[in-house]
Amino acid sequence: MNKFIPIQNFSVNKQQRRQLKRHRSFVLWFTGLSGAGKSTIANYLEKKLFESAFHTMVLDGDNVRNGLNNNLGFSDEDRAENIRRVAEVSKLFVEAGVVVITSFISPFKKDREFARSIFGENEFFEIFIDCPFEECRKRDVKGLYAKAQLGEVKKFTGIDSAYEKPIAPDLIVNTSFESIEDCVEKIFNLAKQKAAL
Ligand code: ADX
Repeated sequence: MNKFIPIQNFSVNKQQRRQLKRHRSFVLWFTGLSGAGKSTIANYLEKKLFESAFHTMVLDGDNVRNGLNNNLGFSDEDRAENIRRVAEVSKLFVEAGVVVITSFISPFKKDREFARSIFGENEFFEIFIDCPFEECRKRDVKGLYAKAQLGEVKKFTGIDSAYEKPIAPDLIVNTSFESIEDCVEKIFNLAKQKAAL
């Protein structure tokens, strides 16, 4: 915090925004390899929450990197900045009373820990979208694993950039042996439970 920039207080606060929406707000922070199924699950999960009258927003790696974060690459420093900005944006949405789903590889433990650290209790849930590297490589939905193996894409997660698995996530789903519907259902149940005012 800059000591010459005081925090302004406004009359409408987070609690009141939550009351209006009739549910609590928090972030469901997805982490996992490229191709693990984060965006697919985020899509179905948001649809299910939306149909149950939750106010939602998805922040997705590919999309955010085409806008707000289009000046960032895939060095460790840029990934840290990517996650820092996404965490801060998510916090604004949580202030607004929204259930946020973030879908970013977020490969580094310290960056995910930073994200968690800026939220209050029961406002941040880390969801590990697990899937073995070999399976993600085989799926290669975007053709990027093949390009990375040829050296055309550099610093690719799992190839020449690390993925640090979460040690104590709030929830794990594994898309290599659980159906997308089952994964969505599990996360939806957690969200419903945490959303009660
Ligand atoms: S993160 O590591 O900074 O969290 P983020 O989720 O925003 O990554 O972006 C990952 C997406 O960018 C991937 O799903 C893929 O489509 C694309 N991408 C392009 N280059 C890379 C790379 N070198 N490593 C990982 N993903 C990449």
